[in-house]
Amino acid sequence: MLLLQTLSALLLGVSLVAAGTKVCHGKDKDVCSIVTCESPGKDGLSGKDGNEGPRGPVGEQGPPGLNGPPGPQGIAGIQGLRGAQGPQGEKGETGASALEALKIQILSMGGRLTALQITITAMIKALLFSRGTSAGDKFFVTNGVEGNYNDAKATCSKAGGQLASPLNSEENQAVSALSLQYKKKPFLGINDIETEGTFRYLTGELIGYSNWNPNEPNNDKGVEDCVEMYTTGKWNDKNCNEKHLVVCEFF
Ligand code: GAL
Ligand code: CA
Repeated sequence: MLLLQTLSALLLGVSLVAAGTKVCHGKDKDVCSIVTCESPGKDGLSGKDGNEGPRGPVGEQGPPGLNGPPGPQGIAGIQGLRGAQGPQGEKGETGASALEALKIQILSMGGRLTALQITITAMIKALLFSRGTSAGDKFFVTNGVEGNYNDAKATCSKAGGQLASPLNSEENQAVSALSLQYKKKPFLGINDIETEGTFRYLTGELIGYSNWNPNEPNNDKGVEDCVEMYTTGKWNDKNCNEKHLVVCEFF
């Protein structure tokens, strides 16, 4: 449109020059104007639209657009190698990891306990097969050796047990079984050394069970302060200096 207006102005100028008087002024007479005495004509018709102008320069970069929707989930990666064992945690650690460690420890201990039980069971079988008997939680074992009361008592103590001291008929039977097997009379862990006629266990406690042979204890000749067991399981008070089978109990 601007081009069209310019062309119109030029055409109008040419027509004015042809119709009027040229008057020049300025230092070099290079500024001229057309002076006409005639009245101005009517406006002409508008010209046709010009051709499209050249393309303008590239505009400035616009603001960034909004974020698009999330893309699809990626493919899972390959599992990494197991790491090295870490350092021991601090004392007092709590939480799931401590609980897991505890579970592992309990499982390990359970396995070791089972192995221990198998070993102990085998050892008990071997013991009972050779020279031992049992009653409840007690085991009665003999080394087959005979000795006086003090020696017999010391032997059992050194072995971690004590002279057989049956507390009931079941235990008494277990000791008598060894007496029969070895055909020897064991010493019992019972005596009246402290007070004649008052029989006590090695602990000093009064006996709570007895299986005296008829007419016993008789303290024959006034020197019978210890107790022997016959192969029948019956008891007789006897001289502590005599030698009898060593039978110890362990529990
Ligand atoms: C003895 C025994 C004594 C007493 C006596 C009974 O052989 O040493 O303690 O029991 O028998 O007649
Ligand atoms: Ca006696």
